Amino acid sequence: MTQDELKLAVAQAAIAYVPANCIVGVGTGSTANFFIDELGKIKKKICAAVASSEASAQRLKEHGIQVVSLNDIGSLSIYVDGADEITRHLHMIKGGGGALTREKIVAAASKKFICLCDSSKLVDVLGSFPLPLEVIPMASSYVARQMVLLGGQPKLREGFVTDNGNLILDVSGLKILNPIELETTINNITGVVTNGLFARRGADVLLLGTTSGVQTFTA
Ligand code: A5P
Repeated sequence: MTQDELKLAVAQAAIAYVPANCIVGVGTGSTANFFIDELGKIKKKICAAVASSEASAQRLKEHGIQVVSLNDIGSLSIYVDGADEITRHLHMIKGGGGALTREKIVAAASKKFICLCDSSKLVDVLGSFPLPLEVIPMASSYVARQMVLLGGQPKLREGFVTDNGNLILDVSGLKILNPIELETTINNITGVVTNGLFARRGADVLLLGTTSGVQTFTA
């Protein structure tokens, strides 16, 4: 099976978690795109969606799914998104697509986070994938120096501006043994909007696409 076939399989499996008449929180990235396409097939069953990026909002609208603002609704029953790395504790690195801040907001507002990954994303220790940080532009050098002090090697994502008008630092070289603590430490650096560790609010369910089928992990 190709990686895309594994992504499609988990996207299809996620549809079973979507309650009738709900507003669905929708993530960003290639796996989330497969989910959006599946959601399009059951659009009459749902009321609307909250998107974690402009790109996902656009794709949802192309399927005829209404996109609403998080500020106009209460909490969401479900959020469905991919990840760049995930552990068996369902802690993740996200933000490869640069949408980490809105993703973290939608995840925080959701009762259940369903993470969709192909098997290449499951790791024992987070950190092989460079950790994305969304930073206020004037703070990028300062934050980069602070990340060096924490043992990382930060690199500015060239030519990229987030949906919120900020920059991304991709930090490699971190062996993340305590993701909950590091998430808090990095978020406390002045100028960081948020970082791509999703550990304080991890996923509730992981649907992992493998060559022998979709495996389900719960937190
Ligand atoms: C977007 O900012 C990310 O958090 C994505 O959810 C993550 O990068 C996974 O993307 P893919 O599904 O494209 O691998």
